[in-house]
Amino acid sequence: MASIAQGKIWKDEDGNAINAHGGGILYFDNTYYWFGEIKKGKTTRAADIRSWEDYRVEAGGVSCYSSKDLLSWKYEGIALASAKRDTSSDLHISKVIERPKVIYNERTRLFVMWMHIDKYDYSYARAGVAVSDKPTGPYHYIRSVRPNGQMSRDMTLFKDDDGKAYLIYSSEDNNTMQICLLSDDYLSPTVTYNRILISADREAPAMFKFQKRYYLITSLCTGWDPNKALYASAENILGAWTMQGNPCTGPDADSTYHAQSTFVITIDGKKNEFIFMADRWNKTDLENSRYIWLPLHVENGKPVIVWKDPWNPDKQ
Ligand code: DGJ
Repeated sequence: MASIAQGKIWKDEDGNAINAHGGGILYFDNTYYWFGEIKKGKTTRAADIRSWEDYRVEAGGVSCYSSKDLLSWKYEGIALASAKRDTSSDLHISKVIERPKVIYNERTRLFVMWMHIDKYDYSYARAGVAVSDKPTGPYHYIRSVRPNGQMSRDMTLFKDDDGKAYLIYSSEDNNTMQICLLSDDYLSPTVTYNRILISADREAPAMFKFQKRYYLITSLCTGWDPNKALYASAENILGAWTMQGNPCTGPDADSTYHAQSTFVITIDGKKNEFIFMADRWNKTDLENSRYIWLPLHVENGKPVIVWKDPWNPDKQ
């Protein structure tokens, strides 16, 4: 790609449409690795669920792309495959595999992926974990958990400067978020966790840190439909978190540019350069969902996302 063109089809180096939704970025060895949900094939709606629009595709697993400049993306293949036959597997195509995020563990020298694992009706509400000795995978799936017995749906990972890592997830029927410290190997939740954004109905968490302060951008729970993003911030990562305003500015700021947050890339934390990643879902044709990536910086303690179309990350 010559530039980031909002909501257009983004092609990889082979000329194929990039299929990496609800994604996240790992920066390792001067390379950006983009992991995301593979959404392929026909979108159907679960007929037995009338209370909300449960549109879905068969779980396609997790894709991986790599890039040096965030524009030219090499397809690295399927990092975590879904299971075609074993109906009891968390990764069976009848399940839900969403919002994969990867961090590197310096102690074990392993790459750790966490993701949202669910049943077609989202009643399972668990966090799955997989591991690989290479950034691109293949990842070996370990298990899924409900951290401390708590529901876990939309989620993200955050690795702090001190090497501690956290799982942040929509819990308590998507009513309240929780943040849980992971074990030193990043493979298990610990008993250290806190309830945050209490009764705020938030999902799609994306966390970053700037000048010792933590920021968490989330959406409201409206299925695949867009809504207004809000950010919260905190001095201590485990809380207290204070809900604040909309970080989006410019046209369509109140619908997050018809998209939903998924990740914030730290380009240069010292220089205040970040990128806000969001998904413009196409709920009746999920494979045709698109990406919105915009410059983000912090002004007087407030994250500001600026609408730019097209733009080049080098020219922030
Ligand atoms: C909203 C979530 O943010 C998405 O990741 C997905 O789970 C949809 N809900 C399903 O309707």
